[in-house]
Amino acid sequence: QTTALAAGAIGKDGYRHYMEKELHEHPLVIGQTLQRMIDPANRKVVLPDMPFDLATVPRAVITACGSAFYAGMVGRYWLESIARLPVDIDVASELRYRDPPLAHGSLGLLISQSGETADTLAALRTLRQNAVHILSVLNVEHSTMARESALVLGTVAGPEISVASTKAFTAQLTVLACLTIAIARARGTLDPLGEEELVAALLDLPSRAADVFAQGDAIRRMARVVAEARDVLYLGRGSMFPVALEGALKLKEISYIHAEAYAAGEMKHGPISLIDRTVPIVASAPFTPLFDKTLSNLQEAKARGGRLLVFTDTKGAERVSAIAEEMVVLPHVHDFAAPILQTIPVQMLAYEVAVMKGTDVDQPRNLAKSVTVE
Ligand code: G6P
Repeated sequence: QTTALAAGAIGKDGYRHYMEKELHEHPLVIGQTLQRMIDPANRKVVLPDMPFDLATVPRAVITACGSAFYAGMVGRYWLESIARLPVDIDVASELRYRDPPLAHGSLGLLISQSGETADTLAALRTLRQNAVHILSVLNVEHSTMARESALVLGTVAGPEISVASTKAFTAQLTVLACLTIAIARARGTLDPLGEEELVAALLDLPSRAADVFAQGDAIRRMARVVAEARDVLYLGRGSMFPVALEGALKLKEISYIHAEAYAAGEMKHGPISLIDRTVPIVASAPFTPLFDKTLSNLQEAKARGGRLLVFTDTKGAERVSAIAEEMVVLPHVHDFAAPILQTIPVQMLAYEVAVMKGTDVDQPRNLAKSVTVE
């Protein structure tokens, strides 16, 4: 009822679906979220006053469900590599029953668009009982999870009507990126110059995100191949692995095509046996330090008859074009910002496939926007 009212009040602004409208809001939402967390004059991240000391947390436990969990996976890569903070991560439906030993004073990082997901809320309560500091990344700031957290960092994504999450995900990544910078500074693993470099990479994102929409034709060419398939394999390495997971989830949710995401280097331990011309491979391969490794995994797949559909960037394009059947070329950005930018075309691909298949894009069967029961 609430969603229907909100939807009526907000409108699709001429877009075919709420999902299409929300995809086009990525640049705005990333920009608004950054505005809240970055002082542009000093090129520094500024967080609200902390009820605990970020410098002394011994480790972080990240938990969430669905797309928010994949945002958390990207957060883990950043926190480990930039802030040198040990991180444990699990889906909330598992974490709540795992009973892991938790170091006193650890940081519990909960991520949720709605702030009402039953499993995430239960995991929050479990962590809190174990004297873990609760920091939640939430889009709905007056939610149950917000009330039960020591600190909330808001994503400024606005209402998300489409059941499949889009803009809330990039907003979550944006908050996690800023939080990583703040923790790294507190722990002494990032000097002021390093912080300036990472902040500049983030501030560059809204205009680079707007450039993605110029790739609509290339994304639709990929979509035509995917729409014909029964199964699709998504591949990525490092911070591109969660982007692949997000792409596969989005495709399953709204087009009902079976999709699996694999860490590209793990493909040889199983999924390689599936590869033939009927199983397209969607890879996220921008020019990051893992580009060569990803490319050699893709060559292995091609040698076995795989059809490669590759998201890359201007620095990777020449080498990708030698092997890919279709490719989408985004602007090259700093490695740190790459997972945020590369998420957008992967979500757009799922949208275009769903439109081609004629599914109910905004209200996919059997799914709810917010799962408030276990
Ligand atoms: C549902 C939605 C997903 C979402 C997940 C977590 O499954 O369909 O899009 O990622 O819940 O929701 P939350 O509100 O906690 O982010």
